[in-house]
Amino acid sequence: MNIGVLTGGGDCAGLNAAIRAVVRRAAQDKHTVIGIKNGWLGLIDNDAEPIDVSRTSGILSAGGTRLGTSRTNPAKVEQGYDKVLENLRKNKIDSLVVIGGDDTLSVALELHKRGIKVVGIPKTMDNDVYGTDFCIGFDSAVSIVMDACDKLRTTARSHHRVMVLEVMGRTAGWVALIGGMAGGADWILIPEIEVSIEKVAGQLKRRHELGKDFSILVVSEAANVPEIQAEAKGSKDAFGHERLEKRGIGDAVSRELEKRTGYETRVTVLGHIQRGGSPTLTDRILGTRLGVAAVESLLKNQSGVMVGLHGNAIDTVSLEEVIRNSPRKVDPKLYQLASLFY
Ligand code: F6P
Repeated sequence: MNIGVLTGGGDCAGLNAAIRAVVRRAAQDKHTVIGIKNGWLGLIDNDAEPIDVSRTSGILSAGGTRLGTSRTNPAKVEQGYDKVLENLRKNKIDSLVVIGGDDTLSVALELHKRGIKVVGIPKTMDNDVYGTDFCIGFDSAVSIVMDACDKLRTTARSHHRVMVLEVMGRTAGWVALIGGMAGGADWILIPEIEVSIEKVAGQLKRRHELGKDFSILVVSEAANVPEIQAEAKGSKDAFGHERLEKRGIGDAVSRELEKRTGYETRVTVLGHIQRGGSPTLTDRILGTRLGVAAVESLLKNQSGVMVGLHGNAIDTVSLEEVIRNSPRKVDPKLYQLASLFY
């Protein structure tokens, strides 16, 4: 086989582990791998070149993606799918490993329907792809959120302040919830559960009455707070998503809380730091296992599937099912569990 591999959508830590694993497993059976640059853009611009084992040396611990990425949607480019198919032919690519979130994987599904042999690998720090317990990049991102909470706590305690930490997560609250729980947050706001700012202010006052004169709040960029009409501003990407960090929800929550409680409040927007740096152990292993599994799935002649983690096993789920059920939202029971510690 001549396997094309690409990474699409937002980058995150652990992508290079998956690329390396694809190349190594393919080489084991003497198959070749072509690295496609910058997601689907590389198949529109014909920007692709072979990657052999030597080129993957040392990339396991590197953050980002050595292939580059973009949010290119072939459906939004004139004759986009025709160009993709033509460049697959030109590069003699007979099968594809597509590493991406639900947007990138929806293009993979379309190519499968058009007769291309394709297997997907779930990655997104948002962790909202259906059909896997965890996506590549999530563990690294929440470790950074946890670390930020730990750091904010020492300064919050010193100044007796309320610290609001705004984190990413476009449609699902996994990053805020799991990162916040691990960081001992005193309240977590996520898109799935509407919570009034009045209720949060009341809880902060109760904490103060108990002698706890500092607090950490983790707020998802997409959080649902009825009193705050935060609108996403700016242009949409090729898949129709707006930039939520421009909503300024963390800032608005911080201002409202200060107004309602009188406690001094500060806001930190963690932003792209959550996607940067070296992958954690978990993401290195997940990327490695999913990369190997994707090639093995192609070797079994499978197509139109995604490899995913279920419990401690890697198996496959159809891309059709993945796209139909994504984004995967937070389980309300887990949110309830977090609130036990407020
Ligand atoms: O999709 C992952 C993600 O990090 C979201 O959490 C966030 O809303 C978005 O990407 C930011 O996108 P960009 O890197 O294009 O600003």
